[in-house]
Amino acid sequence: MEKREKLYEGKAKIIYATDQPDKVIIYFKDDTTAFDGVKKEQIVGKGVINNAISSLIFEVLNKRSIPTHYIEKLSDREMLALKVEIIPVEVVVRNFAAGSFTRRYGVPEGTKLEKPLVETFWKNDELHDPLVCLEHIKLLKLAEPEDVEKMKEIALEVNEVLKAFFASKDILLVDFKLEFGKTTDGRLVLADEISPDSCRLWDAKTKKKLDKDVFRFDLGDLKEAYQELLNRLREK
Ligand code: TMP
Ligand code: ASP
Repeated sequence: MEKREKLYEGKAKIIYATDQPDKVIIYFKDDTTAFDGVKKEQIVGKGVINNAISSLIFEVLNKRSIPTHYIEKLSDREMLALKVEIIPVEVVVRNFAAGSFTRRYGVPEGTKLEKPLVETFWKNDELHDPLVCLEHIKLLKLAEPEDVEKMKEIALEVNEVLKAFFASKDILLVDFKLEFGKTTDGRLVLADEISPDSCRLWDAKTKKKLDKDVFRFDLGDLKEAYQELLNRLREK
């Protein structure tokens, strides 16, 4: 696999073309941002840990026949994936109240939700990723309604698979964000990354946070938390 030109650089990753038109290399950077890039730091080694965690999680999902862009981990900081056009709608699944749900609706952090809640946000940093419902998505032409329905269905399936996977490591899957894309041959697949940058994960017993909230709210050493998470995910 030959690495070619840079196609896109985001806040935490760089996408490179390859010698195959339907595949890309995703490079995980150490840049860590929060609040739409307002808080920003380089945390040396974070990209390596996030590539390892994301690859491990995508392998779990691929084994369960969930359609994803992931092909294989290539190196410490690189994964090979199907090239996709990202749909600008982020799907968030919540099992417990936290983050913007707590701020928006006043439900205390950690409250168990009666059933998983699926929310959709417009992926738009300038507008701070506003919450959108299907009517907004249709009106703003952000995605096809059938695709949104499928994305929500897949997100709930991912929730069931990952809830059980994390539970086996004594970790609570509080909430997470997914992004989807269309492959060059038009298939809808789960894309981007699934890492502690995009999930909230708490130790099931102590409720210790093992995710980006550690960085967002200066709760301790982010790299240590991510490394602990990776070690626990690797345990048999
Ligand atoms: P929220 O509670 O801030 O809406 O976040 C919900 C989930 O989405 C949480 O697991 C963190 C993740 N997330 C991202 O991956 N990117 C973002 O830009 C934001 C705001 C949240
Ligand atoms: N991902 C967003 C940022 O990098 C926001 C966040 O995760 O808090 O700014």
